[in-house]
Amino acid sequence: MARQLVEKSGLENGPDHEVHFSFTGCPTDPPDGMSIGYFLEGLFGPESDVPLTPTLKGMFEDTSRNFFFVAEVDRQIIASCWYLTGASSPELSVLGEVYTRPDYRRKGISRKLCDHALQHFINSGGKAMLLGSNNPAAIDMYFAMGFQPYPEGLMRYTVGAPGDFDSACFDPAQSTRIREIQHGDIPGIANLIGTPNDWISVCYPIGLFSSSHQSQARCVSFYTLLKKAADQGGGLFALASDGGGVMGIGTLLHQGNRLNPGSALVDVFVHPAFRTKADDLIESILQSAKVKGIAEVRAEILAAEHEKIVLLEKHGFRQSCNVGRRETLGDKTYRVVSYLRTMG
Ligand SMILES: CC(C)(COP(=O)(O)OP(=O)(O)OC[C@H]1O[C@@H](n2cnc3c(N)ncnc32)[C@H](O)[C@@H]1OP(=O)(O)O)[C@@H](O)C(=O)NCCC(=O)NCCS
Repeated sequence: MARQLVEKSGLENGPDHEVHFSFTGCPTDPPDGMSIGYFLEGLFGPESDVPLTPTLKGMFEDTSRNFFFVAEVDRQIIASCWYLTGASSPELSVLGEVYTRPDYRRKGISRKLCDHALQHFINSGGKAMLLGSNNPAAIDMYFAMGFQPYPEGLMRYTVGAPGDFDSACFDPAQSTRIREIQHGDIPGIANLIGTPNDWISVCYPIGLFSSSHQSQARCVSFYTLLKKAADQGGGLFALASDGGGVMGIGTLLHQGNRLNPGSALVDVFVHPAFRTKADDLIESILQSAKVKGIAEVRAEILAAEHEKIVLLEKHGFRQSCNVGRRETLGDKTYRVVSYLRTMG
């Protein structure tokens, strides 16, 4: 896609240089992709939460839409940011890869670039943008742009009142279905994890918990962590609305080894308004385990998750052993319990 110039301006309190602000969708034109990839990969490395080269080449555009914004001086990139929406859910996005070269900082460049990204998102039908940060300088900037803590670490910008967005996003009247989690679910996963929930673990085996119980400093990494774990074998399931929203997540993580080849760990996390659909998630996980020839599935969860335990028992899980482990989240410590279901 051709790059589009959105602003030319001088540097605030800096030398007399013109800064060009532009953006591109994906796949980028090859020279743009190379220069943006060169800039960002040098900063965040190949292990970045955003697989830069595949993203720039458009390899995720089947389920997501990616936009890169850059500022340039004398044709050299000096700052960047990126945002992603689901291909079928343009109302929700995540913002990331926000960076200004140290020699150009405090000149208003990131603020302008992020404002352009936010405006482009809103003009394309965007309603809520999420990000995660533990950098106080960046948090100050996002706060000044109108982002609010969601509830801590994560931040969210909403067009209009946040409550109105949440009511529409998690409207229980929406029809849902179970499908595999896809790249375009990145914003939906972050939004689900950020929204108030009395359920604690999202995916206990990888230490992923609801933001209501654990402060989160990053948001794209939720998906990255889940994907990495599932790539070892297993599956990731979304309780998804027809509009592309994520109302629940189910995980099946293969624990195969030579001593116990057919074992897997499960967990589920569902928005309070969609609890009656949690059964569908568990059933899909069990079905998938069966197809994969997994002999037994286990759930290691916190003993305080009473509703989840009742749900597991309803689907044939029985408490197996005392794990003897405790999990501390914030100022609370929880006992970990293990539930087992053998696949007949
Ligand atoms: C955070 C960062 C992107 C800011 O870039 P920048 O181009 O210098 O930012 P701007 O000049 O547009 O500043 C915008 C606002 O951010 C805040 N800010 C930026 N740098 C700050 C600093 N060092 N201390 C305090 N506040 C700061 C201020 O509120 C500032 O507004 P002001 O200048 O009117 O006070 C840059 O410092 C950076 O690249 N840091 C490393 C990467 C990073 O942490 N990225 C964010 C990941 S979420």
